[in-house]
Amino acid sequence: MPTLPRIDSFAAELTAIRRDLHAHPEIGFEEHRTSGIVAAKLQDWGIEVHRGIGGTGVVGILKGNGESGRRIGLRADMDALPMQETTNLPWRSTIPNRFHGCGHDGHTTMLLGTARYLAETRNFDGTVVFIFQPAEEGLGGARAMLADGLFDRFPCDEVYGLHNAPDLGPGEVTIFPGPSMAGADFFDITIAGYGSHGAMPDRSRDPVVVAMTLGQALQTIVSRNVDPLKSAVLSITQIHAGSAYNVIPGEARLAGTVRAFSDEVRALVRERMRAIAAGIAAAFHVEINVDIRDIFTVLVNHEEHSRAVAEVARDVVGADNVSTTPRPKMGSEDFADMLKAVPGAYFWVGHEGSVPLHNPGFVLDDGILPVGASLFSRLIETRLPVSHAR
Ligand code: NI
Repeated sequence: MPTLPRIDSFAAELTAIRRDLHAHPEIGFEEHRTSGIVAAKLQDWGIEVHRGIGGTGVVGILKGNGESGRRIGLRADMDALPMQETTNLPWRSTIPNRFHGCGHDGHTTMLLGTARYLAETRNFDGTVVFIFQPAEEGLGGARAMLADGLFDRFPCDEVYGLHNAPDLGPGEVTIFPGPSMAGADFFDITIAGYGSHGAMPDRSRDPVVVAMTLGQALQTIVSRNVDPLKSAVLSITQIHAGSAYNVIPGEARLAGTVRAFSDEVRALVRERMRAIAAGIAAAFHVEINVDIRDIFTVLVNHEEHSRAVAEVARDVVGADNVSTTPRPKMGSEDFADMLKAVPGAYFWVGHEGSVPLHNPGFVLDDGILPVGASLFSRLIETRLPVSHAR
């Protein structure tokens, strides 16, 4: 596959960077070592560096050849997961309960490889904004960078991001326009009843029975309220109540997540959750508090920019390896917030291996590094072409 020869020539160095980041994973907003390495490398390559954007975020600015005022952002996430790695690789995590189980070490390295190549060649006319984002894993790193004025301080006309995909073959790229990854809410529901002896339920207002009833009733939202031709998920992932065999507790808690591909469906699910909870509270004489928090925006790829990614990908990995068939994922990705502010696209790049993301045995294949760096680099050279008229 024709990755850029100049990037291939330093692929071994990219692998070394990636494995070092992998051995020293840091979770969201704690990426101090990682962002320090990123900043130092960018500086070494003559790229203007801004640190502390949205916490531990780093932004690099590189001007190309020519007078164009156009600016393109490329984004990588830097955070690891709070989980234990179970591989026995020589570069496995050295920190207990910290693991790059989503391959963000690879994303960071691919963007570094892109930065090095573009700084050395400058075969583009305009400005590249390298965005190294903290805390993608549900902690709001993209929103933190945006709130810190990311696109006010470093305006972009377009923005692109990528994710590794062990479910695609090596060198395969998936890119399609429209809603591509779901928006997500997290929710906590507290049921305040009245406790009693387990033998005397008539003295209680039993929150456990209410939790079971409510849990069942909430499942009707997707099956009975959401348009069957649209998609939604409501998963209750936690139930907590009680501490003894013979005590009816006074309180029960449910928690979970809602996923959907449109803001309308998300609003409908929230409204029905509150209405069902209020009705059940009235029916069973308990108090139910519903706290629903918007965590991830629906990720919507823009038409023109998705097409641009597909064209570049056909060049780099070959037309047979590029899929533009819409295959939306119920997972979420906080790059969605950047795409809401600036048009662009988000794509998946396959690699060797079959262990899924977020599995304790996940292995990122380093063969992906020159591929991702070549895709990003060619995207810049294609979207910010040097004028031949001069
Ligand atoms: Ni990820």
